[in-house]
Amino acid sequence: MLNIALPKGRLGEKVYNMFEKSGFECPAIKENNRKLVFENAEKGVRYFWVKPSDVSIYVQRGAADIGVAGKDILLEYEPDVYELLDLNIGKCNMAVAGPKDFYDDENKTLRVATKFTNIASNYYAKTGRDIDIIKLNGSIEIAPILGLSDVIVDIVETGATLKENNLEVKTKFLPISARLIANKSSFKFKMEQIEDVVKKIGEQVNNDD
Ligand code: PRP
Repeated sequence: MLNIALPKGRLGEKVYNMFEKSGFECPAIKENNRKLVFENAEKGVRYFWVKPSDVSIYVQRGAADIGVAGKDILLEYEPDVYELLDLNIGKCNMAVAGPKDFYDDENKTLRVATKFTNIASNYYAKTGRDIDIIKLNGSIEIAPILGLSDVIVDIVETGATLKENNLEVKTKFLPISARLIANKSSFKFKMEQIEDVVKKIGEQVNNDD
């Protein structure tokens, strides 16, 4: 049985559809209930829905053999897993954003609010900018509005959240997409099954854009 951690939500549903089309269906998963674990013994797959940012924890520790996680999570937490495939979905960008009238005085320490402290630190280390990181857990956009920070480093997908809060992108610096990841020992011991998934899911990846 291959244990597969899917990120709960819209992205997870797209991912499941790719598995379904690849012949790893588990129809019960679409019966919209509150269950978190679904199994199709015949196909040798067991799916479970987990919080998107937790997928790599389940996979690193072997509770799941494979899973799907955003590149943002992989870069931020550097889990000890194999990254097998770029699924080319869940696409967005990591960006610096701030108020429209923000003027960056390079002589001052820049106050940066973010959930992604490692990604932000690495980015500013490369630019040589002196920063003060303020770690938040969500609704990052509010920080510059209240004067808690000068800018934010966050994910931008449609840009609607920024727009509705009178903020704008200053720099997009990292493209993000969903990646198929595997536990390192599962990859060794369930290689045949995992390689079969990689091959079939790979055929579903749309690389047109
Ligand atoms: C993410 C991100 C932005 C928003 C961007 O938040 O942190 O707030 O999505 O999407 P958009 O460009 O399409 O508006 P999420 O929904 O993960 O919630 P959070 O506030 O808990 O981080």
